[in-house]
Amino acid sequence: MPIAELRRLRKNKNIRNWVSQHELRPKDIILPYFLVEGKNVKKPISSMPGIYHLSVDNLTKDIKEIKGLNSVLLFGVSNEKDNRAKNSYKKNGIVQKAIKAIKKEFKDLIIISDVCLCGYTSHGHCGIVKNQKLKNFEIDNDKTLKILAKIALSQAQAGADFVAPSAMMDGQVKTIRQALDKRGFKDTGILAYSAKYASCFYGPFREALDSKPAFGDRKTYQMDFRNSYQALREIKQDIDEGADIVMVKPALAYLDIIYRARQEFNIPIAAYNVSGEYSMIKKLSNRDKNAQKELALEVLTSIKRAGADLIITYWAKDLLKWLK
Ligand code: PBG
Repeated sequence: MPIAELRRLRKNKNIRNWVSQHELRPKDIILPYFLVEGKNVKKPISSMPGIYHLSVDNLTKDIKEIKGLNSVLLFGVSNEKDNRAKNSYKKNGIVQKAIKAIKKEFKDLIIISDVCLCGYTSHGHCGIVKNQKLKNFEIDNDKTLKILAKIALSQAQAGADFVAPSAMMDGQVKTIRQALDKRGFKDTGILAYSAKYASCFYGPFREALDSKPAFGDRKTYQMDFRNSYQALREIKQDIDEGADIVMVKPALAYLDIIYRARQEFNIPIAAYNVSGEYSMIKKLSNRDKNAQKELALEVLTSIKRAGADLIITYWAKDLLKWLK
């Protein structure tokens, strides 16, 4: 056997582009936003260079300036928090207002809204806390489900295309699907945070949402990183409960999970390139913008190569420019 001359396929840029197998496409990119009350607010988030807290008026201004944007994921940052997350499902809540404003101005933009309690609870947990004692607190799964259904419904009423439950409560997809169907929102889809791991890569995000748990951690609801087949069970269950799209989160440290999910299931898979994964690379390469671009493209393409269809990433704006 002659030795394969594999370098022929890398001889120049044209040939490399010609035979390249995995491409990031603008339409796959989902841009997350952190929304706050008020007018004309644009406040940098120190843990995430280049990312801001925006008021709704600035959100629509911002969207207007981005060419090729296909979808957004909305998070609300509440400044009035309580232990029942009451502000999460208000008709006039931050996210609900933002959805309406976007729908009015940008008919074709796909709106995904995060469905969780953590941005609205005083203790920062994603669910209703049963026993607030530091050592043996418990998250009440079924009480949390009721709130999640209310949030999803309020967002669907505002005009969200997809709601994205991220609390990792058992039965959240089914509960939300039933609530939506009952109220006539058959067309509102569910993008489920299915395999969501308890990860330290969420650190910068928790600063942005001011949602760091005041006590305990999220390990009784988010997944243990020592497990992989459990992720497939979580995904399977969400599909059975009615998810339209499933998600693996974080992305970079979990490419094996994305790959396995891709082999196993015939459903669109989203991957969340989370805050810590973003900030890590951003800070590592901030002094050399070209290196930064190359590095970001390398890791984002690896997510695609692993098998993700959609990528939620704080690089979205840069990426849309780079891919032009
Ligand atoms: C929780 C939620 C988290 C993220 C999105 N929704 C993580 C958490 O605090 O547990 C993380 C996103 C990121 O890090 O970019 N509902």
